[in-house]
Amino acid sequence: MTVTSESLSQHQIVLVTGGSRGIGRSICLTLATQGYSIAISYVGDKSAAEETAQLCVNAALSAGHYASRFVALQANIATASECERLYSEVCDTLGSPDILINNAGITRDNLIMRMSLEDFDAVLDVNLRAVFLLCKLASRSMLKRRRGRIINISSVVGLTGNTGQANYAASKAGVIGLTKSLAREFAGRSVTVNAVAPGYIDTSMTETLDERIRAKLLESIPLQRLGTPDDVAATVAFLCSDAASYITGQVIAIDGGMTMQA
Ligand code: NAI
Repeated sequence: MTVTSESLSQHQIVLVTGGSRGIGRSICLTLATQGYSIAISYVGDKSAAEETAQLCVNAALSAGHYASRFVALQANIATASECERLYSEVCDTLGSPDILINNAGITRDNLIMRMSLEDFDAVLDVNLRAVFLLCKLASRSMLKRRRGRIINISSVVGLTGNTGQANYAASKAGVIGLTKSLAREFAGRSVTVNAVAPGYIDTSMTETLDERIRAKLLESIPLQRLGTPDDVAATVAFLCSDAASYITGQVIAIDGGMTMQA
């Protein structure tokens, strides 16, 4: 589905993976108010993705951005061919992305003794392999144009590790290594690559936490609250902006102070 608030667009084009809900939706809405055109990728929930696209149109129009365009595109980025199809559909509908935001992510938690190889691979495929593939696809035109931004959504768990999340922590730590390596590879062409590492953010990924664990978590967060998707979106929007043009290879924790160093 394509929703257009006006044809004619000279706006920056952004691909947000997993933009249908949670943090991804918040990123899309925040960027929509700032005049970007956005491809919103989703895996299964078409109506949620189309709702995000419509909310983006409303947000763009109320902010006076009449030329922005929004498109919801289905793809299961766990496979390489779907990443390629997604990327070429973005190019066909909106144009080559100026900004890539690798947000889609999944968990399959278990203690390692009970963690199956399938669950390890499933998490790595979406959280790391797809990030590698999409960075590779998007970087070709960014490097040619000597302009572009890549923002990868990692996690504080990628910095600290977490019991029951060996697969997820490995994938998110991998994203940090990938981010820093690409930041070095692309810096000579003015393409920046950064990661954000959210702490505990109130989304469907964390709503299953039981009250006891939630209370314990709050004790470990100096700001004494869970984060919101908008907390993450605000930092991502900053990294997309001209104000962040001298920032690359960084990992910004958005975690209420949880992982601050002594
Ligand atoms: P969510 O579960 O609400 O949304 C995940 C998004 O990823 C959905 O739009 C879904 O369609 C998409 N997705 C999942 N599998 C996919 C696949 N195979 N192909 C294409 N798209 C797929 O998650 P949430 O909480 O909004 O998380 C977004 C990102 O932030 C994830 O990378 C997550 O690991 C990360 N994060 C979340 C934290 C939290 O507390 N919620 C904390 C730290 C990081």
